[in-house]
Amino acid sequence: MKTLILKANEIDQAAAFIRKGELVSFPTETVYGLGADATNEAAVKKVYKAKGRPSDNPLIVTVSSVEMVEKYVQKLSSDARNLIKTFWPGSLTMIFKLKPDALSKTVTGGLDTAAFRFPNNQMTLDLITKAGVPIVGPSANTSGKPSPTTAQHVYHDLKGKIAAILDDGPTTVGVESTVLDMSVETPSILRPGAVTKDDIEAVIHRRVIDELHHVGAKQTPKAPGMKYKHYAPDAQVYIVDPDSDWHDVAQWIAQHPQPVGVMAFDDTIKSIEWPDNAHVISLGNDATTAAQDLFAELRDFDNHPEYKTIFTQGIDPVGIGEAYMNRLNKSAGQMHFKQL
Ligand code: TXA
Ligand code: MG
Repeated sequence: MKTLILKANEIDQAAAFIRKGELVSFPTETVYGLGADATNEAAVKKVYKAKGRPSDNPLIVTVSSVEMVEKYVQKLSSDARNLIKTFWPGSLTMIFKLKPDALSKTVTGGLDTAAFRFPNNQMTLDLITKAGVPIVGPSANTSGKPSPTTAQHVYHDLKGKIAAILDDGPTTVGVESTVLDMSVETPSILRPGAVTKDDIEAVIHRRVIDELHHVGAKQTPKAPGMKYKHYAPDAQVYIVDPDSDWHDVAQWIAQHPQPVGVMAFDDTIKSIEWPDNAHVISLGNDATTAAQDLFAELRDFDNHPEYKTIFTQGIDPVGIGEAYMNRLNKSAGQMHFKQL
């Protein structure tokens, strides 16, 4: 199959592919998604196959109107409506209880709930409206690899396996949406993203659980997707914690003559004399730019297999920094410079 790269004036063509049960990758403000008609079971099955995704991992349902959500879910609570009003379109995905048999098992992984997302990207909202159906929307990467933040990343992973990619340039947030479970008594964050616990509590005026800080080693995470190794480049990533000394990192690199990758903030980069075998990449100045760049830079190292080791700057997990550290921890498999 030839994979077409389509622009804003070609959305009709992309919508026609969706209606025919083909796969189309779509842009969002977070990462690129892999779209298929959520009401067409055969189309949804192709998504798991193209990504190599375990079939017990449910998919997000991406919509372009609140009516599309109401068609499938039991009554939306007033908290849910307030969150929708405040954060949609945007990076808050919400899990709701479904009407019986509203969506196929292939979408829900057999759960009686589904995750709904209303992305902040006009091309994709137009695509969904023109297709006339909600589309499933996992990230458009091969399972286990960093999520794609450009159309080129999608092309790299999925060329020949999908009909088209709608290209809207690089994404702005860079890490996937916050996943909030609204189907339980106390709303619970299953995956951190740009919309934080504080942001949510400020709207609904009641406590929200941050599931990450409740998941003990023996429990299974409530978002099935959180249990897999994720976001990992071929090289081993080590987190350099805020209390580590970057002079020690530079010294380690000097003592190990192979090429070593470094991803750090501008202030850090300027403060160190880097050995010649260090390949230093900027994460910008703050957590926002770091989150924006993280996946693209991890992917870029895969184009240079001579790098076996990457040191990446860790930060305090506040605001978007929590999502950044969550993804960085996964790509590092919890390895830290201190452990070397
Ligand atoms: O920003 C995003 O959310 C991107 C863009 C493309 O929209 N999409 C995305 O989808 O990250 P995906 O499939 O890669 O991640 C969805 C996460 C997974 O961890 C999945 O297990 C969880 O949401 N999830 C989906 N439905 C669920 C449900 N009913 N209950 C619990 N977790 C669910
Ligand atoms: Mg994903």
